[in-house]
Amino acid sequence: MIYKLTEEQQAVKEAAREFTQRELLPGVIDRDRDMIYPKEQVKMMGELGFLGMMVDPQYGGGGMDTMSYVLAMEEISKVDSSASVIMSVNNSLVCWGLEEFGTEDQKQKYLTKLATGEWIGAFCLSEPGAGSDATSQQTTAVDMGDYYLLNGTKNWITNGGTSRIHLVMAQSHPDRGHRGVNALIVDTSWEGVEIGAKEDKLGIRASDTHTIMYNDVKVPKENRIGDDGFGFKFAMKTLSGGRIGIAAQALGIAAGSLELATQYAQERETFGVPIYKHQAVGFKLADMETEIEVARLQVYRAAQLKDRGMEYTVPGSMAKLVAAETAMKAAVEAVQVHGGYGYVKEYHVERLMRDAKITQIYEGTSEIQKLVISRNLLKGELYSPMIF
Ligand code: CAA
Repeated sequence: MIYKLTEEQQAVKEAAREFTQRELLPGVIDRDRDMIYPKEQVKMMGELGFLGMMVDPQYGGGGMDTMSYVLAMEEISKVDSSASVIMSVNNSLVCWGLEEFGTEDQKQKYLTKLATGEWIGAFCLSEPGAGSDATSQQTTAVDMGDYYLLNGTKNWITNGGTSRIHLVMAQSHPDRGHRGVNALIVDTSWEGVEIGAKEDKLGIRASDTHTIMYNDVKVPKENRIGDDGFGFKFAMKTLSGGRIGIAAQALGIAAGSLELATQYAQERETFGVPIYKHQAVGFKLADMETEIEVARLQVYRAAQLKDRGMEYTVPGSMAKLVAAETAMKAAVEAVQVHGGYGYVKEYHVERLMRDAKITQIYEGTSEIQKLVISRNLLKGELYSPMIF
C-alpha cells in the first residue's frame, strides 16, 4: 500500500504539529506531574476544529475524513497523549456515535455543541465488574413510561469530570442479556449524577478520569439512542471506529519516541563519536523505524477502509494491536537510548513510556483485539482487504 496525502490532509497534519509545538509542548511536563487538565488547550482545540473533525459541517464539525483525524491524533500524541485522548473520545466515541445513530433532535441539541468543543463528551461503558467483559452491564435503566430511571456506577471514564454529556450504556431488560442494553444521553447537570474522585494514573495523567455514580437519574425517553435494546451494538460499533483513533494515538507515541531518540543519538557523544554511530544504538533506531512504519501502514489502512465505507472492525483491531505494542516497545527503547537522561522527566521519553502503556489497555486490551481478530478469522470471512 502506498499512501500519498491529499493537500487537505497534509495541511491538517501540519496544523496539528504546529499547534502541538506551540501550545501543548510548553507545560506538558508540569501538567503530567500535577495532573492538571489542559483546559485552555482543549478550548483552543475546539476553536481549531480538532474536537469534531469528522462531523458534518451542518452540525458544527469539520467534515473531514478519518485519515485527517488519524493524522492529527498522531501529531498531537507525539507530545501530549493526555490532550489526544480527550480529543479521541470526543471525536470518535461521542460525536461519531451521535451523528451515526442519533435522531435529528439529538444532533441539533447535543452534537452541535460537542462538535465545536463548547461541550465535551464522555463514553460510559466500563463498570467495576464489566471491563473487557462488557456485556455484563450492571447499571440499570428502568423504563418508567416517559423516562428511564438510571442507577449504577461507571469507572475509568475519560473526560469524567469535565464533560457535560455522557453516553451511558445501561441494562433495561436483564432477561435479554446484551440485547437488553440501552444507550442513553445524559446531561451531567441533571440531578443524581455524581462525579467521583479523579484517578491518579501511571500515564495520561493530565486527562480527566473518574468513577461516575448515577443515583435515580431521570433520563427522558427521547434521549435513548436507537431502538430499545440497541445500546450494546451501539457501543461495539462506536468502539470499532474509536479503536482507530487510539491506534493513531499509539502510533504518535511510537513516532514521538523515535524522533526524540534520533535527535538525542546525534547530540550525545560517547567514546568520541555521536552514539548513533555505535551499532548498538543505530540498530535500535532502525528497528524502531521499521516497526513504526509497519504500524503506520495498518493504522492508515484502517482509516482508509472506514473512509471508503468498507469493513473496518477487524482492520481497526489489527491497527490498535500492532500500534499499541509498537508504542510500548519504541518508548522503552527510546528511554534506553537516552540512558540515565531518559529516566528523568526533562527529556520527555519517560512520559511517553508511561503513556504508551494505556494504549494496550483502553478501548479494548491487546488481548481483546486478538479475540476480535481470531473470532473473525475462524469464521473464515475475508475482513482484511488490501487497498492499492
Ligand atoms: N460491531 C457490531 N456488533 C458487534 C461488534 C462490532 N464490532 N462486536 C460485537 N458485536 C455484537 C455481536 O454481533 C453480538 O450481537 P448478537 O448477539 O446480537 O449477534 C453482541 O455484540 C455480543 O457480542 P459477542 O457475542 O461477541 O460478545 P462477547 O461477550 O463474547 O464479546 C467483546 C464481546 C468483543 C469481548 C466486547 O465485550 C468488547 O469489545 N470488550 C472490550 C470492551 C472495551 O473495548 N471497552 C472500552 C471502554 S471505552 C474506553 O476505553 C474509552 C476511553 O476511556 C478511552
